[in-house]
Amino acid sequence: MEFMVKSGNPEKQRTACLVLGVYESRRLMLAAEQFDAACGGYLGNLLRRGDLEGKVGQSLLLNVPQALCERVLLVGCGREREVDDRRFRQIANHAATALNETGATEAVVYLTDLAVKGRDLNWKIRQIVDAAEESRYRFDQLKSKKDAPRRLLRKIILSVPGRRELPGGEQAVREGVAIAAGVKLTKDLGNLPPNICTPTYLAEQAQALAREFPALRVEVLEESDLERLGMGALLAVTHGSAQPAKLIQLDYRQGPTARKPYVLVGKGVTFDTGGISLKPGEGMDEMKYDMCGAASVLGTLRACVELKLPLNVIGLIPAVENMPGGRASRPGDVVTSLSGQTIEILNTDAEGRLILCDALTYAERSEPAAVIDIATLTGACIIALGRHPHGLFSNHPPLAHALQAAGHAAGDRVWELPLWEDYQEGLDSNFADMANVAGNRDGGAIMAACFLSRFAKKFHWAHLDIAGTAWKTGKAKGATGRPMPLLVQYLLDRAAEAEREDGRAAH
Ligand code: BES
Ligand code: MN
Ligand code: ZN
Repeated sequence: MEFMVKSGNPEKQRTACLVLGVYESRRLMLAAEQFDAACGGYLGNLLRRGDLEGKVGQSLLLNVPQALCERVLLVGCGREREVDDRRFRQIANHAATALNETGATEAVVYLTDLAVKGRDLNWKIRQIVDAAEESRYRFDQLKSKKDAPRRLLRKIILSVPGRRELPGGEQAVREGVAIAAGVKLTKDLGNLPPNICTPTYLAEQAQALAREFPALRVEVLEESDLERLGMGALLAVTHGSAQPAKLIQLDYRQGPTARKPYVLVGKGVTFDTGGISLKPGEGMDEMKYDMCGAASVLGTLRACVELKLPLNVIGLIPAVENMPGGRASRPGDVVTSLSGQTIEILNTDAEGRLILCDALTYAERSEPAAVIDIATLTGACIIALGRHPHGLFSNHPPLAHALQAAGHAAGDRVWELPLWEDYQEGLDSNFADMANVAGNRDGGAIMAACFLSRFAKKFHWAHLDIAGTAWKTGKAKGATGRPMPLLVQYLLDRAAEAEREDGRAAH
C-alpha cells in the first residue's frame, strides 16, 4: 500500500473516496462541514434524517451527487472531547476496515484533523498507516486456496492542515511505513509453523535481510563455534533437538564509529516443548511463538535501515529448538555458562534464560551503550500483567524511563516490575552457583529477570518479557508484531538525542 500526505480542502478532492469524521451526536468535523457547505448541505440533511449517530464503530458510505469525489465514507468518532489514544485507534481501525470493503482504489483521509489529547500529527499519521496495514494483514502463504477479499485499495492520501506541515507529515509516513514493514516481518516469522521456522531458517532470514540491505552485516555462529566459545548454557538447551543451534548476529553501523552500539538480544526458541520437563499438550502449538523476540529484533533492524538511523545497532539472536530426547539435558544437570558461572538446570522448560544468559555475556564484547533483551520468557508474566503491557525490568533507571516513554509514544506500552536484591536468594543452588528456577512459583517473571541480571552486570540492561504480548491466543490467534514498534521508537528517540548532542557540540 502507498501512503502520501497532502494539504487542501476536502471539496476540491477528485478522489475515489473521501474519509470524513462525524462526532456524536451527528456533528460534522470541521473538514466535513467545509465539504458539506460546498455540496449544499447534503451531509447535514442525511444526519438530521438519522442515518448516522456518530458513535465509534459506525460508518456510512455515500455517493454525493454534487461532489468532485466518487464517494464519501463518514466515520463515527464518538464525543469530540473524548477522543483519546484508544478512541483514535478504534476510529482508524474502523475506517480502514470500511475502506477495504468499498470498491475504491485510493482515498483521501481527513481523520488526521481530529484533535487527540496529547498527540500530534506525527502520531496520528503513524496510527493510520499502522491501522491500514494491520487491517490488510493475512497469513495465508500456507493455504492452498486463498480467500481473496475485495481489498482494492492501493493508496491512502493523508490530509495535513497546511503546506508547512507537509515535511513533518512525510517524515511521519516514512516512519509509519518502515514500522509497518518491520511489523509484517515480525508477524510472518512468528506465524510460520515450527517445522519451517527452525533455527536454520531464522539464520537464513537474517542472511537474506543482509543481502537485501547492504547496510546490514550478518554473522552466523554454528554449534562448533559455540562450543569453542564455551556457551554451555545455550548448548544445554539444544541437545535434545535434531535442529542445529545458531547464534545470529546482525550489525547495523551507520553511526559515528565512536558511538557505542545498542544491542538487541532476541529469544529465538523456534519451538518450546519444555524438554524433559515436558509441557502439557493443550495449546502447545503456541510455543512456535517462542521465537517472537528474535523476530522483533529482525523487524527492528530492517526498520533501522529504512529509516537510515544514524546509530550503531546490533541484533543478537540465540536460536534453538527445545526438545526432549535421548541426548536432551536432564533436570539436575550442571552446566558452565560463557560467563564462567555454573548453573544447575532444575527445569528444562526454563530454557529461555539459559540461551539468553550466554548471549548477554557475548554482548559484552561489543561495548554496548545499552543491551535490551526481548523474550517470551514466562507464563508468570501473563499472570502478573495480563496481555496488554510488556513486562519491563532494568538495572538502569534512565533506560527503564526511556523505554516507558517510547512505549507510550508508540502505543506499545511496558510496565516495570521490581528487580530487588531480596529476590535473588531464591535462585540459590546446593550444587552450582545458581539454579535456573526458584523452588516455588512465586514471582516467576521476576525470578527469570533476576537470573538474567546476573549476566548483565557490566552494562546498562533492560529485559522485556513479551510472553503476554507477542501473539494473540484464541480465535484471532496470530502474532502481533510487538514490541517492534516500541524498539523502533526507542531507537528513533536515541537518534534524536544524538542529533541534539551533536548540535550542542558544534556550538
Ligand atoms: N516460553 C515459555 C514461557 C511462556 C509460556 C510464554 C506460556 C508464553 C506462554 C518459557 O520457556 C517457559 O516455559 N517458562 C516457564 C518457566 C518455569 C519453568 C519457571 C513457565 O513460564 O512456565
Ligand atoms: Mn520453556
Ligand atoms: Zn520458552
